[in-house]
Amino acid sequence: MTRFLLHTGILIAVAAVAAGLVVFLGLFNVSARGGHLPSVSWVLHTTFRNAVELRAPPAETVPDLSDPDLVALGARHYDAACHMCHAGPGEARTATALSMVPAPPPIRDAVSDWEPRHLFWIVKHGVKMSGMPAWPTRSRDDDVWPVVAFLTRVAGMSLAEYEALVAPPDMPDETAGADAASCASCHGADGRGRGNAQVPRLDGLGEAYIAATLAAYRSGARQSGIMRHAASTLDATDDARLAGFYAARRPSPAPTSEPDGDRERIVLGRSLAMGSPARRDVPACNACHGPWPDRRSALFPSLSGQPKPYLLRQLELWRDGERGGTARAHLMHQAARDLDDGELRALAAFYASLDPGTDP
Ligand code: HEC
Ligand code: HEC
Ligand code: HEC
Repeated sequence: MTRFLLHTGILIAVAAVAAGLVVFLGLFNVSARGGHLPSVSWVLHTTFRNAVELRAPPAETVPDLSDPDLVALGARHYDAACHMCHAGPGEARTATALSMVPAPPPIRDAVSDWEPRHLFWIVKHGVKMSGMPAWPTRSRDDDVWPVVAFLTRVAGMSLAEYEALVAPPDMPDETAGADAASCASCHGADGRGRGNAQVPRLDGLGEAYIAATLAAYRSGARQSGIMRHAASTLDATDDARLAGFYAARRPSPAPTSEPDGDRERIVLGRSLAMGSPARRDVPACNACHGPWPDRRSALFPSLSGQPKPYLLRQLELWRDGERGGTARAHLMHQAARDLDDGELRALAAFYASLDPGTDP
């Protein structure tokens, strides 16, 4: 028994010295040129597949991904953040992407073996030691699903369809700067969000709020992987320039979303927003958000005419304590804390039904 322990101890010591030599003398060749030995590739890939299958969320947690607005938003984020490695559907990958080990698979192959819940896990968590990055923020799942919605469509999409989906609109002039076209691919050149109900309108927002919000996305104080990616290449001067550009857009006179017949909801929403005597614990929203006689603070965003799904999602984030923002964000935490689901829907329906053109 003692001999056995002695031999094992010697073996472990030799192995540790050998491993130390490999690490400290640089004996392991880290060059990506030769690729992995087939056996190493097999071990890595099988570990990856099984790890994803073990950890992916259950199928019941997958939301409805059929909304074309989700697909379009996901495609536009994909074009900004993933295209450089996986290319568009049917498009050749760059020579640099092909020289990675492992090489990022063409996007149609990348999605072929997976269900939406697996794709969600891969996009959210990334794949260690492969170059496949994790989602840039941690706390929100709803922000990842648009990309999954796009991935569920990409196999049946032609390159021309993809390019039409992600192309930015024509910009009115060059004063906004070259990077404004990338913002406009989602927010539109007029800030109205190209009719996509998953994207907030910027045309009714103030300059100071937009600039401070871009900084909050960049620092992670406000969580969104989509916007953190978009804001990460900007600096304070760019924030101010883009904020000036979008704040100068004229809000369109007509609301984007129809009241879609839910009159009762809008009536309840209005009474809550204006300070309902029945809910004295809920601060009147209009004091800070309008509809306004005059804007109370440059950091208070107008909500009028924002799309209903966007407003509802933000209200849920506030209520769950997941939404951060500018230096004034603490004022909102109190406001949404005690609202139930029906009240959040009513408030979103009310503000979505307002005409953004009437706010000063
Ligand atoms: C820097 C390059 C890079 C970027 C950027 C990147 N990926 Fe990947 N991705 C990879 C690599 C490399 C793999 C292969 C991982 C493996 O097989 O171990 C991969 C794997 C995947 C897979 C799984 C495919 C499989 O092997 O079964 C999916 C799905 C995927 N990526 C989607 C995305 C999406 C969506 C984005 C953007 C949010 C993205 N990737 C951004 C490099 C990248
Ligand atoms: C891929 C689509 C996409 C791109 C590109 C994009 N955005 Fe956004 N933007 C969004 C989405 C989605 C949100 C909502 C994020 C959230 O839930 O916080 C958002 C939110 C915002 C907000 C906050 C609005 C509010 O009401 O609080 C501002 C300001 C903004 N974006 C400005 C920009 C600017 C400036 C650029 C270009 C540098 C840009 N965005 C690029 C999709 C995009
Ligand atoms: C004391 C002022 C105040 C009150 C009252 C208030 N809010 Fe806010 N709210 C804010 C501020 C400030 C922000 C912007 C926070 C940030 O991102 O920095 C905000 C943000 C929001 C947003 C996100 C807007 C966007 O474009 O992303 C929504 C939605 C919202 N509030 C809804 C409401 C509703 C509904 C009520 C009433 C129940 C309400 N607020 C009451 C100050 C207030």
